Amino acid sequence: MAGPTPQEPLKTQQKCIAIFALVCCFAVLVALIFSSVDIWGDDEDGITEENCSKDCHIVLVENIPDDLSFSMDGRPHLPVFVGFHTLLDQAKHSVEVVSSAWDLNSWDLETIPSPAKQGQLLFQRLLRLKSRGVKLKIASSLTNSTELKALATHNAEVHYVNMTVFTRGGLHSSFWIVDRKHIYIGSADMDWRSLSKRKELGVVVYNCSCLALDLHRVFSFYWQLHERDYIPSIWSKRVTALYGKNNALQLQLNSTPATAYVSTSPELFCSKDRTRDVDAIYQVIQSAKTFIFISVTDYLPLVKRSFRGTSVTSQKKNKNIPRI
Ligand SMILES: *[C@@H]1O[C@H](CO)[C@@H](O)[C@H](O)[C@H]1NC(C)=O
Ligand SMILES: *[C@@H]1O[C@H](CO)[C@@H](O)[C@H](O)[C@H]1NC(C)=O
Ligand SMILES: *[C@@H]1O[C@H](CO)[C@@H](O)[C@H](O)[C@H]1NC(C)=O
Ligand SMILES: *[C@@H]1O[C@H](CO)[C@@H](O)[C@H](O)[C@H]1NC(C)=O
Repeated sequence: MAGPTPQEPLKTQQKCIAIFALVCCFAVLVALIFSSVDIWGDDEDGITEENCSKDCHIVLVENIPDDLSFSMDGRPHLPVFVGFHTLLDQAKHSVEVVSSAWDLNSWDLETIPSPAKQGQLLFQRLLRLKSRGVKLKIASSLTNSTELKALATHNAEVHYVNMTVFTRGGLHSSFWIVDRKHIYIGSADMDWRSLSKRKELGVVVYNCSCLALDLHRVFSFYWQLHERDYIPSIWSKRVTALYGKNNALQLQLNSTPATAYVSTSPELFCSKDRTRDVDAIYQVIQSAKTFIFISVTDYLPLVKRSFRGTSVTSQKKNKNIPRI
């Protein structure tokens, strides 16, 4: 056996340095990944999948245009504005709102026409949340809304999602999360017309922190996009979907066993494990046994809407889509 040549210790040394450098790079990379993961998350107030509430109370809320009269069999549904006021009555810590429009308060108090009263009233209550110690958080794609500016001066936190960058569309979701416990999902926007002039439909779900937790993760996703122009490839676990079409939440709705999950679109906005709206719609259609009733705003939204990109909706699987 030949003994080591004079070059060999030098080579080993070089190898060591190279390996050390590689390990350092790797460590820095891992640190970067984990720090970005932490940055993109949002606090969940100690409620977890294990101890969230599944014993929920659901109420349909509906706005029938106030100049439309027709006789209804049985009781009419709860008006949308009553649903919002009930949610605000319950709020103790936080109200989180996503709405495509903010136009509750177009008039001076003096000249306000009666159909706009409910909008005005709701706006006043949102302004007063601060005095009750309730945090108001709003995610929106509106850049120059006077109402959002007014709310921001009354301590609302407003996060701006620049949808131009992502889809050239708008943030078209409409939902509320109250105390991570109660939620509203529906077609009504924060627009006085949604409370008086338009046909709107939605659900308010009380005492349902499991569903609220998952919807809050959708909210967190929007929230974290504040003034960003890219969607990170790695997200915190706190925006990962908790439930989806293959693992729906098993819950009680008004003491009846039911399943539910939250879906979103476009796909770009579907974080890990989040079901896309279109797949949720397919699943609802597939599960039909006898009939499908459909109620939607536009059957051809891409043709009818003026903007070029995809619209963004976030909805429980039964909103505005086939009802079975
Ligand atoms: C739920 O569990 C988490 C973690 O185990 C705990 O911090 C939290 O206080 C619990 N919340 C409730 C409402 O029991
Ligand atoms: C923002 O809104 C104000 C008041 O409504 C208006 O005067 C202004 O022109 C708007 N700015 C932009 C950039 O749209
Ligand atoms: C949104 O992003 C677009 C494209 O990058 C940019 O031109 C525009 O100024 C941004 N809007 C705001 C309000 O930051
Ligand atoms: C929610 O739960 C609380 C406590 O269990 C109960 O007092 C309240 O009536 C419930 N609210 C609704 C709307 O079911």
